[in-house]
Amino acid sequence: MLGNLKPQAVDKILMLMGEFRADPRRDKIDLGVGVYRNAQGVTPIMRAVHAAEERLLQTETTKTYTALTGEPGFNAAMAELVLGQGYPADRLASVATPGGTGACRQAFELIRMASPDATIWVSDPTWPNHLSILRHLGMKVALYRYFDTETRGVDFAGMTEDLAAAQAGDVVLLHGCCHNPTGANLNLDQWERIADLLQRTGATPMIDIAYQGFGDGLEEDAAGVRLLAQRLPEMLIAASCSKNFGIYRERTGVLMALSDPAHREVTQGNLNYLNRQNYSFPPDHGARIVMTILNDPALRADWQAELEEVRLGMLALRQQLAEELRRLSGSDRFGFIAQHRGMFSRLGATPEQVEKMKKDHAIYMVGDSRINVAGLNESTVPVLARAMIEAGL
Ligand code: LMR
Repeated sequence: MLGNLKPQAVDKILMLMGEFRADPRRDKIDLGVGVYRNAQGVTPIMRAVHAAEERLLQTETTKTYTALTGEPGFNAAMAELVLGQGYPADRLASVATPGGTGACRQAFELIRMASPDATIWVSDPTWPNHLSILRHLGMKVALYRYFDTETRGVDFAGMTEDLAAAQAGDVVLLHGCCHNPTGANLNLDQWERIADLLQRTGATPMIDIAYQGFGDGLEEDAAGVRLLAQRLPEMLIAASCSKNFGIYRERTGVLMALSDPAHREVTQGNLNYLNRQNYSFPPDHGARIVMTILNDPALRADWQAELEEVRLGMLALRQQLAEELRRLSGSDRFGFIAQHRGMFSRLGATPEQVEKMKKDHAIYMVGDSRINVAGLNESTVPVLARAMIEAGL
């Protein structure tokens, strides 16, 4: 039986992780997978996470099952973090999931159950695993223009032109902030216009928000999600705690569904059902860490302060890189790097240029020229800048 299996293509981001590990060069630079690293190249456990774990060790008395929804206190704390205080609890159904990927997967399955013929509109480009999961589930996908390869900003005219063809029963997948892989984001005015468009077409938005706090700040990064939640009758939100709490391997995320209050209970039942079918109870340890932090004013303040340091550190690296490139190229054409937000920027290099930077300088970025800014530090920024110019960017 197993002999019938066909080989699977390896995820490009994960393949790059392996290639980087195998490279013996000592000065190699990893700008691949979306994991935060500090100036020493370490992905630290955040102070508040440590403190919350210590507290759990002292106070947790059982490891018995929670609920199919996951710990309700975690779901409520995440609803407040993403949707803000005073979020519409009467419209909200939610389940904890194994990471943001788990939330996306459950969201896609929920869409398939509610609207079997739905087309899922995804940005071109998007996180490759969105496409991979959608294909695996056999769902219909349409791409909408998103990235302007000239300006390296959002092609908003192209985006709205394409999305005008979305219909009621379809889903438009948007990145809440810190677009992966481009780093180019909608401004608030554009979010308003997307809300108008969704109202007109009747399509349902799904927001993947995996980097809240990495762009312009915790509140600012959630502004688009909150605006759509206020203006539209229904939406799905897949939120991840992997990056902003730095708890990647704990697999901590949440799927939220906003609906008419009359549909809330059945929606919740369907979310519980999907959890039961796929893995039964969602992971709890990371969720409990997050809940402990968010519900304790001192831990929360410390977490926010550390997250802000992380965010400002990435911004400073962006500015340094843009400045270095301005100096080396004698032009402003790399100014977009300082405009982009979050962990990623798409540089606009060709696959050959990406390959050359890997071969000549041991600089690893995803093949579409996405860099993880947090893989840099003050002394590797000039190395990347020189390699980019040398590669002909
Ligand atoms: C990334 O885009 O690099 C991250 O979201 C990690 C992943 O799972 O791909």
